[in-house]
Amino acid sequence: MSAVEAVKVTKKYKGSLSFAIKNISLEIEPGRIFTLLGRNGAGKTTFVRICATQLLPTSGIIKIFEDDLIKDTEKIRNYISIVPQEGRPLRALTPWDHVYYWLRIRGVNKNESSIRATKVLQEFELYDVRNRLAMYLSGGMKQKILVAMAMATDSKLLFLDEPTIGLDPVSRRQIWKAIKEKKESGTTILLTTHYMDEAEQLSDDIVIIDKGVIISQGTLSDIRKNIKENIKVEISKSGVDSEVLKSYGTVIDSGTDILKLFTFESNIQELSAIAIKKNFFFKVSPITLDDVFVSLVGAEANSPDQFT
Ligand SMILES: Nc1ncnc2c1ncn2[C@@H]1O[C@H](COP(=O)(O)OP(=O)(O)OP(=O)(O)O)[C@@H](O)[C@H]1O
Ligand SMILES: [Mg+2]
Repeated sequence: MSAVEAVKVTKKYKGSLSFAIKNISLEIEPGRIFTLLGRNGAGKTTFVRICATQLLPTSGIIKIFEDDLIKDTEKIRNYISIVPQEGRPLRALTPWDHVYYWLRIRGVNKNESSIRATKVLQEFELYDVRNRLAMYLSGGMKQKILVAMAMATDSKLLFLDEPTIGLDPVSRRQIWKAIKEKKESGTTILLTTHYMDEAEQLSDDIVIIDKGVIISQGTLSDIRKNIKENIKVEISKSGVDSEVLKSYGTVIDSGTDILKLFTFESNIQELSAIAIKKNFFFKVSPITLDDVFVSLVGAEANSPDQFT
């Protein structure tokens, strides 16, 4: 049984001429962290909101744990939780109120709600401010309240739409840890993020969407194979003959002083000899998801919409 099975899901917003997403078909296996990547406006939030029963699709079929999104909406709502992209906590409630009463509303008893609220607020370093009104908290603290609410539930499917947006590096790691623990306990997670390190840390499966359609999908390692080389060399542009570099692999010139070259380990020695001889900046590192993402969706930045 799939946690989410989407077949040809399309959304056209009212009054809009173009599709926000078009014919998205995908399957999310239970117990996995499934990440949606894509540029601003690609359609990630649209898809997440549809799956989380907040928005109706224009066409297509979605089954959540075999329940039909349209017919079994209420049933589905009982076992999912969402951290919406632009959610805000209520100004006049405290972090404690948000988490504790959210659990109470969802049927958790007083004692258990209290235990869970304490645990998650401690994990996210919100415990010391648990009784302060949200309006007096920082932006990151407010964001963490929303994540804490979802994490405290025992929902079997979590939708996390950019859950770590605006968070400091330490806070982000607290959230990553909580997400991983959720996965270990069997929860399925649909995540969106613009932080490629986050996607690399967490994802089992990845779908990249661009202008509303899927352009690549697979496991994290499948996605990496979109770039055939396995090593990235960064080398200063000045004085290097880019024709020479091209003979070693794929050259990316993003307009800065540094050229990127995707290549293989076997070329590193020769390349470093060139750099050392001329006393150039030279850096070798593995190819990251960030590189793959930019090579897949960056090059088309100025191309016209595929469907209008
Ligand atoms: N309520 C709406 N009414 C009309 N069009 C909308 C609405 N919400 C989103 N769109 C359009 O749908 C497309 C997809 O938007 P969506 O919010 O799903 O993108 P996203 O991938 O989540 O982007 P981001 O990374 O910026 O959050 C965009 O072209 C956007 O302008
Ligand atoms: Mg979004």
